[in-house]
Amino acid sequence: MALHDDDSVSNPSGNRQFNDVLEVNLKRRQMLIGGLSAAAIGFLGLPALGGIRLASATAIQPRAGFGGIGFEGIQPNTLAHGLIDDVLLPPGYQYEVLYAWGDPIGAEGQKPGQPAWKDNASNSAEEQTLQAGDHHDGMHYFPFPGVSGSHHGILCVNHEYDDQLILYPDGLANWSLEKARKSQHAHGVSVVEVWVNPRTGRWEVKRPSTYARRIHGNTPMQITGPAAGHDLLKTAADPTGTRVLGTLNNCAHGYTPWGTYLTCEENWNGYFSNETGDVLGVPGLDQKLEILEGQSRYGIIKGGFGYRWHEVDERFRADLNPNEPNRFGYVVEIDPYDRTSTPKKRTAIGRVKHEGAELVVAKNGRVVVYTGDDERNEYIYKFVTAGKYNAENRNANLDLLDEGTLYVAKLNDDGTGVWRELTPKNPALAGWTQAEICIRTRQAADLAGATMMDRPEWISANPLQRSSVYCTLTNNSNRGRTPASVNNPDGSTNAGSAQPPVDAANPRGGDATPTGNVYGHIIRWHEDGEDNTALTFTWDIFVLAGDKTRTDGRLQGNTIGDDFNSPDGLWFDSAGRLWIQTDATTSASSYNPGGVNENIGTNQMLCADPQTREIRRFLTGPRGCEVTGVITTPDRKAMFVNLQHPGEGGTTENPTLVSNWPDRGPRPRSATIVITRDDGGEIGGL
Ligand code: FEO
Ligand code: CA
Ligand code: CA
Repeated sequence: MALHDDDSVSNPSGNRQFNDVLEVNLKRRQMLIGGLSAAAIGFLGLPALGGIRLASATAIQPRAGFGGIGFEGIQPNTLAHGLIDDVLLPPGYQYEVLYAWGDPIGAEGQKPGQPAWKDNASNSAEEQTLQAGDHHDGMHYFPFPGVSGSHHGILCVNHEYDDQLILYPDGLANWSLEKARKSQHAHGVSVVEVWVNPRTGRWEVKRPSTYARRIHGNTPMQITGPAAGHDLLKTAADPTGTRVLGTLNNCAHGYTPWGTYLTCEENWNGYFSNETGDVLGVPGLDQKLEILEGQSRYGIIKGGFGYRWHEVDERFRADLNPNEPNRFGYVVEIDPYDRTSTPKKRTAIGRVKHEGAELVVAKNGRVVVYTGDDERNEYIYKFVTAGKYNAENRNANLDLLDEGTLYVAKLNDDGTGVWRELTPKNPALAGWTQAEICIRTRQAADLAGATMMDRPEWISANPLQRSSVYCTLTNNSNRGRTPASVNNPDGSTNAGSAQPPVDAANPRGGDATPTGNVYGHIIRWHEDGEDNTALTFTWDIFVLAGDKTRTDGRLQGNTIGDDFNSPDGLWFDSAGRLWIQTDATTSASSYNPGGVNENIGTNQMLCADPQTREIRRFLTGPRGCEVTGVITTPDRKAMFVNLQHPGEGGTTENPTLVSNWPDRGPRPRSATIVITRDDGGEIGGL
């Protein structure tokens, strides 16, 4: 179940189709292996042999402030190359599984190794609060001070959503509150202590730990910033409008220089259902219509995405509790060093479907937060704090994200752009309060005339030049379709339904199948005056993803190097390498002959040279996974990467239909892996 992606289409025939293809392919592979030499078996990409080099690649040499790229791009993990159910890396690299769904976090007071993972998924909702959540996503590593920091630190891992078909032994049958609670507890964030265990010499989760903590869908949180306490945030359970239970759909992330973690609420709408198409307890018709229109603008529909929480937990009935959804869609700040601290939902950064939050301290000391709203035709935002970062006093920064100015991007076709202010000072928002803008942010941005983008995902600023900021635009099946339409300036458009014409910043689309911008692209902008708080910028397209072998120019892209589909994760390491992670639809049929991923294969991670734009494939994932979340230790010698939902397309009856990674046991598990080099060198370096 690809529950979180707005573009994913439920295809009940997909699994069978995939299984057929897989079986045929496996037979073909067995035949081939029977008659081939060991060298040729290597060409099939068997996991024991690792990835395969492309013949012509040589190292990209370092230059000032750029560490170079020392590995050669590996081949894609396609049907033709065996569709290997494993993580494949360049020669000389290896990985180990560090932290998989269901692993105990090492909470203090628990017996060693408890609560232990049960591979029939019979762990209870209560146990799930002390175990790794599901669907690992954005992630950050907080090193401990000093030289040990590259061997010992705190890892914060987002758990975006779950696969309920395999979360329980019997899937969605016998639905109950206990089951809904387990699902809620599988969402959120893990805070775990990780280290190179001196006894084993290997990266491990350190248990027990005074830092170990699970934050989940029922963890008490505080709502802060301009919208805190507003009437639109008040509920029967919380008449103050300042206390909310849980964070949901924690997609990408951010981190601050004062040592806090930001987790970002993306497709939170999918947990709510408006069962009746009405709202109760609201007297006026106009008010009702405004609420319903607002729910529609954020994609709240009857049934939601099928999680079924609303059937047993009335909090998720958007018709009965119309303000509860207003309490989700924020960037949430967590102090990883204090497990008793209350996470804070920072409303000043706006309420959208936040992908991530990239934070830059501008040269004037103000803190800038870039964030994308990941849905078709949504916008790119930036928030500039009123106060300045204080490097000397951590406590002085702890509420910095509560006050400042929110902007939304307008990209002009001539390569220039402006940040349009989302405050009552903007004439388009006259009569609004800042609290309303921070709750009904999409509608405010509609009125401000923002540019509709092809699903803004991660944003990363170049460490060499922090005013140079990159953003993945993963795809948009509606771009360029007819009849053309836009997000209505009165905010009444159904989420993701508009069909904007192509423009310079989103240049590919159309009605031909597959429709729209299929492979996605990466855009970058340069803030004027090297100032991240500037109101104007210039932009260009870094790369149009695609498949060079396609005859349709719309699908070819302009990649220099290895092709990929649907860029999502995006992160600069401290040596200036740009790492790209992909989330092409993994509904199983995507590897079909003739399909858009035929030559792209499984989701993957690549490494780009931001200057020459050369891109090399570094990692390919197991079957049915998304690759998302990446961070290294300060010495860049260990890299943590998340493999989300391996085996997507598996069923309750047959969880391993698509994949049994990583355990080779009865069900696949999302997991954090740690990548190292045989020679102990720098990941990606020479
Ligand atoms: Fe959760 Fe937009 O990826
Ligand atoms: Ca993502
Ligand atoms: Ca995604």
